[in-house]
Amino acid sequence: MRVYDAKVNHMTNPMGFFMDGVSFSWKVDEARGKAQKAARVRVAADEKMQEILFDSGMDEQADSLAYPVELALEPRTRYFWQVTVLSDAGEEADSEVQWFETSKMSEEWIGKWLTCDSTEKRHPIFSKEIAPAKEVAKARLYVTGLGLYEAYIDGKKVGDEYLTPYSNNYNRWVQYQTYDITDQIAGGGKLSILLGNGWYKGRFGFSAFEDKGYYGNEWKVIADVVLTYTDGTEEVIGTDESWTVTRSRIMFSNLYDGEQIDATAPELPAEEPTVCDAPKGRLEARRSLPVVAHEHIKPVELIHTPAGEQVFDMGQNFAGIFTFRVKEPAGTKIHIQTGEVLQKGNFYNENLRSAKSEYIYISDGNETVIRPHFTYYGYRYVKVEGVSDLKIEDFTGLALYSDIEMGGDVETGHDLVNQLVSNVRWGMKGNFIDVPTDCPQRDERMGWTGDTQVFSPTATFLADTYAFYSKYLHDMYTEQMDLDGMVPDVVPSAGVHSTACVWGDSSCIIPWNMYQFYGDKKILEDQYDSMRNWVDYISRVDGDNHGWRSVFHYGDWLALDNPSGKTDEVMGGTDEGYIANVYYAASAGIVAKAARVLGYEADAKTYQALCDEQFEEVKKEYFSQTGRCCIKTQTALILALKYHLSENEELTKKTLRLLFQISGDKLKTGFTGMPLMCPVLSENGMNDLAYTLLLNEDYPGWLHEVKLGATTVWERWNSLDENGDISSTGMNSLNHYAYGSILEWVFRYVTGFRVSEEHPGSRHLLIAPTLNWKLKRAKGSYHSAAGTYETSWELADPSHVTVKVTVPFGCTAEIVLPLVSQETLADQSNPLFADVRDGKCFVGAGTYEVSYETTKPAKKMYSTYTPIQELVNNPEIVSAMGEQLHLDQIPGQALAASFRQLAEAYPSASMSAEMLDQLDAALARF
Ligand code: BGC
Repeated sequence: MRVYDAKVNHMTNPMGFFMDGVSFSWKVDEARGKAQKAARVRVAADEKMQEILFDSGMDEQADSLAYPVELALEPRTRYFWQVTVLSDAGEEADSEVQWFETSKMSEEWIGKWLTCDSTEKRHPIFSKEIAPAKEVAKARLYVTGLGLYEAYIDGKKVGDEYLTPYSNNYNRWVQYQTYDITDQIAGGGKLSILLGNGWYKGRFGFSAFEDKGYYGNEWKVIADVVLTYTDGTEEVIGTDESWTVTRSRIMFSNLYDGEQIDATAPELPAEEPTVCDAPKGRLEARRSLPVVAHEHIKPVELIHTPAGEQVFDMGQNFAGIFTFRVKEPAGTKIHIQTGEVLQKGNFYNENLRSAKSEYIYISDGNETVIRPHFTYYGYRYVKVEGVSDLKIEDFTGLALYSDIEMGGDVETGHDLVNQLVSNVRWGMKGNFIDVPTDCPQRDERMGWTGDTQVFSPTATFLADTYAFYSKYLHDMYTEQMDLDGMVPDVVPSAGVHSTACVWGDSSCIIPWNMYQFYGDKKILEDQYDSMRNWVDYISRVDGDNHGWRSVFHYGDWLALDNPSGKTDEVMGGTDEGYIANVYYAASAGIVAKAARVLGYEADAKTYQALCDEQFEEVKKEYFSQTGRCCIKTQTALILALKYHLSENEELTKKTLRLLFQISGDKLKTGFTGMPLMCPVLSENGMNDLAYTLLLNEDYPGWLHEVKLGATTVWERWNSLDENGDISSTGMNSLNHYAYGSILEWVFRYVTGFRVSEEHPGSRHLLIAPTLNWKLKRAKGSYHSAAGTYETSWELADPSHVTVKVTVPFGCTAEIVLPLVSQETLADQSNPLFADVRDGKCFVGAGTYEVSYETTKPAKKMYSTYTPIQELVNNPEIVSAMGEQLHLDQIPGQALAASFRQLAEAYPSASMSAEMLDQLDAALARF
């Protein structure tokens, strides 16, 4: 038996993080037993676990998802802990000894805030020679710098993080980091803190300019070096007037435009720092996960373009920086630019809009490895000028993103789908640089709330996102405090003070998603005021006259059904007031559910009543008395089914099918409808259609992008046209994860992991994969908070399948096998069928496998009974039989009918029974 993933507040060995409590979690595998009988958590002052500070004893109630423990924490202290698990088979195993180290907590800083002449563009370095007086037992650096900082000791970088102190609502709080510098400083050395611009100062967001940052304009730094000597005494060296300021050779930096270094720039005389006021936001311990360099990516090709440029192709669109070994004569200007796509074979970067996204280095003649410090790029292609002998070996891309643990996976027998999964994963990485952003390349890269609202379940299938989203949601709440509960479209807002439905509803939907995935109600406790304040804000705007319906909303952003018919429109065809009202009701409902979990009964009643009342308002305004939805778009009907808004769901489904038939089984949905579309179709008996949408290789669709060479997910269905030409430059990112949320459906319906609010934390899981002959096989893993679930299915032929399921230790599952017969379920020799109820197999931890003949082929069967539209949708049928069947001549209204129906309705068409039977035989081959 192995105890693993032992975490504190959902982090592994966190140092210097904000902690308003301590909650442990752990997982178990490789056990003979099925579940935990009891667990014991011990906390100690030493690594050997001898000076015990807390001992829960064997506790039968210990919840491995979240086990909060009361500890009187001291500042700047490392605590060690270990969990021992006893299984129901009598096994006992310990986790490795883990630790967490507290921040300064409420301790005063010795250091003072320092600044220097901020009109001088050369980026400052604040330094101090540190000479320990005695033998050092441990040394810590507590530090922050604005806009961004990197700390060095004797020229060697401290820690492996980039872009510190990260991005948040600086008007409310400024994060500091803690570094273990024991080894680096024990013998003494020069501590230097280099500053850059970033999110705080300089150009970022819509309302800041080069000399007018949104949060501030001054370089500022504060640090405390705490030396603990072996005799137990302590010395603190804080930032003060005794530090010096010199100037680096970084002449310019910002996140959008890049960085400029002049290695030939003369040394400037050292300046004295000035003690200055603290920034507006409170100095607080970090909540941001470290942003570190994960993948190191080598160029796959050096391209010499028709325009005569030299361009590295990294083979993958991603976000981050690079290292580049150069040696050019003194004074040579090396110019590097990044882009996401080539156009006509040449370098292209116009879709980055005003972001220059470049790096300029003036060589001093020495060989050196250059790397940007205070910027990052979203790129696949790198144009290099000024390097005489360009070599692939000299360039390495570094993928930067927050230290989330990537986990979940899906692999199928369909190459394009597999590439899509990879594209979504890369889209997540590139947009998880401290803040969940819309895109990582153009002059935006902002924490758009709507984008991450729709992507958060996919993200959480792919990685452990709890700590990442906790910080984001906390920041969201700090924004709301200044905006009367309103959730700005972007968090941190950086001056964006507008809001909208679906986007602002992220304040309710994301915490609820986190609760469903992790089963830790702390996220609801932390966010409850944020959630409630958002709904209260809407209520005030709504007033007595449905005011919320009439303010601006993005609605079904970028959907393809704008009535104008223009493909470059950003607004969709679904009434925005309808969407706004539906989400208002839904968010009120989430607040009610959260209140119930937290035991706030009065609130639960109030918000449930508001939810019910608002859904009634929606029905009154947007549905006929018999349940017909007045808005005839895919998204409107998807919402109607999701929230059961129609009195006549059969009619709603029929209308939705009809709409898809009219569009040739092509999606029209945008940011609101798309993420819900496939799950709603599957829930309503249209799983085949959901698969058709996924597997469609033409425009508009996911695989269309894949076929055009995408390595991340595009912002628009038509970001590039059929020829690979970029469709517009106004708003057109090739790395926008919102539509990547299709992967949630893939996890839930292809591999079958149906995470639900009935079983938060997935200690019990409904597993219900669905089959598809075009996929042939699928295999997936879901690293749930309770342990790793795995499923796989493989079709030997359309009627024979092998399904395998693994349920982790401590968990139970109800498995719905796809297309399974009663006879198969009756096979008592297979442990999978030991407890079958209502067609579901109830099982405990373990691995189960079964091969069986399906009740019908897992393949679309074509015949003269099939709606003609479906024949038209199959490229193989069109190419083999299109002419014979006159498929291109059949009028649109008739496509919903089958050939049999047409034959009956139009006897004059003289399709004999014999002809129809022959056609059936021919169609059966596909
Ligand atoms: C962003 C989006 C965002 C949208 C708001 C765009 O500029 O890139 O993804 O959600 O604005 O409608």
